Amino acid sequence: MPTLETTVNGLKLPNPFVIASGPPGTNGNVIGKAFDEGWGAVICKTISLDAEKVVNVQPRYARLRARDSNEIIGWENIELISDRSFEVWVDELKAVKKKYPDRILIASVMEEYRKEAWVEIVERCQDLGVDAFELNFSCPHGLPERKMGSAMGEDPEILEEVAGWVHEVATVPVWAKMTPNITHIEYPTRAALRAGCEGVSAINTIRCVLGVDLETLRPEPSVEGFTTPGGYSSRAILPIALRMVMEIATVIRDEFPGRSLSGIGGIETGADAAQFLLLGADTVQVCTGVMKHGYGIVRSMQDDLLAFMKKHGFETLDDFKGRSLQYFTTHADLVHRQAVAKHRIKMDDTQWSGDNFVQQSDDLARG
Ligand SMILES: Cc1cc2nc3c(=O)[nH]c(=O)nc-3n(C[C@H](O)[C@H](O)[C@H](O)COP(=O)(O)O)c2cc1C
Repeated sequence: MPTLETTVNGLKLPNPFVIASGPPGTNGNVIGKAFDEGWGAVICKTISLDAEKVVNVQPRYARLRARDSNEIIGWENIELISDRSFEVWVDELKAVKKKYPDRILIASVMEEYRKEAWVEIVERCQDLGVDAFELNFSCPHGLPERKMGSAMGEDPEILEEVAGWVHEVATVPVWAKMTPNITHIEYPTRAALRAGCEGVSAINTIRCVLGVDLETLRPEPSVEGFTTPGGYSSRAILPIALRMVMEIATVIRDEFPGRSLSGIGGIETGADAAQFLLLGADTVQVCTGVMKHGYGIVRSMQDDLLAFMKKHGFETLDDFKGRSLQYFTTHADLVHRQAVAKHRIKMDDTQWSGDNFVQQSDDLARG
C-alpha cells in the first residue's frame, strides 16, 4: 500500500494536502475542523499586528460559472487579510497547538515595510508554538495600496530584504508566498531563496475583473455601485498555477536543491494534486475548493492520489515528485524532435539502420 506521508523542511505531514491561507483557516475552530477531517497541515488566514487597519467590504466575492453546467469555475475576491485582532489570534493558535500538538500549524503573516514589525510578529508567533511561517508577499488587492502584500512580492529587492529580516529571527521553516502578477516568477523566487527562506508557495490569486453586469452596467463585485480589481482563484487558474510551479521547481532543482515548494491554484481533486507533485511541488494547498465543497474533500483527494500511485507502482511521493519536469524543453528542440520522429517513421517504412538514422536525422534537424 503506498503512503502519502511526507517530510518537508523537517516537518512531518500525514499527507501533502494543506489548507491554504484564506476563509478555510479563518479562526481556531475551523482550523481544528480541518485537522479533524484529515488535512496534512493548515495555514491560517493571514494575520498582522494591527488588525484595526484592515476594513473589509460587502459583497467581496463574485463567481464565474461554466455556461452549460453552471459549475463555479472562477472566483474573484476583494477580501483583505484577517480583520481579527492579533491578541485573539495568539489565544486561538495556542489553543489549536495544545489540542493538536502533532499537527502542522503554519502562520501566514504580513506586515508593513518596517523591520521591527516583521521581527515582532515572527517572534510572537513562534513563541506560541507555530510550526512554520508563510510570508504573504502576494495579496493583490487593498493592501498593496499601503505597500504591503504583492507590492512587496512584485519587487524582488524589497522581498529579499524583508525575507532576510525574517530569516534573522525565525527558528522554524519559512515559506515565501509568491504573487503570479509578475512576468517572471523566477526573479522573486530567487530573491526569497537567496534570503534564506526554506521554501516557496505559489500561487496567490491573479488580478482580475470578473465581469460587468449588463443590466446595471456596473462591474462585479459591486460595492455601492463601484468596485476594485480583485484576486482570481478556483479551477480556471490551475493551468497558470501549473506553469508557474514548473518554473519555480526548475529554479529549485537547478539552483537551490533541498528547498521546498507548495503548489496552489484551482486544486480540487487528487488528480489535480498529482499534476502539481509531478511538476515538483512537495505539498499542495487548497482554498476555493474547500469553500465550494467543504473540508471533507480531503478524503476523496487522498483516495484519488493513492489510486494514481497504485496504478503507477509509486510507493511514496518522492517516487514521482518532479518526474514530469524533464519533459519541458525549448520550442526549437520540439521542432528537432518532431523532425527526428517523422524521419524515423519514414525509415521504419524503408531501410532501417541505426547509424544511417542518426546521421540522416541530424542532417534533417539542421535543415
Ligand atoms: C476569499 C479568499 C481569501 C483569501 N485570503 C488569503 C489570505 O488571507 N492570505 C493569503 O496568503 N492568501 C489568501 N487567499 C489566496 C489563497 O490562499 C490561494 O492562494 C488562491 O485562492 C489560489 O488557490 P485556490 O484556487 O485553491 O483558491 C485567499 C483566497 C480567497 C479566495
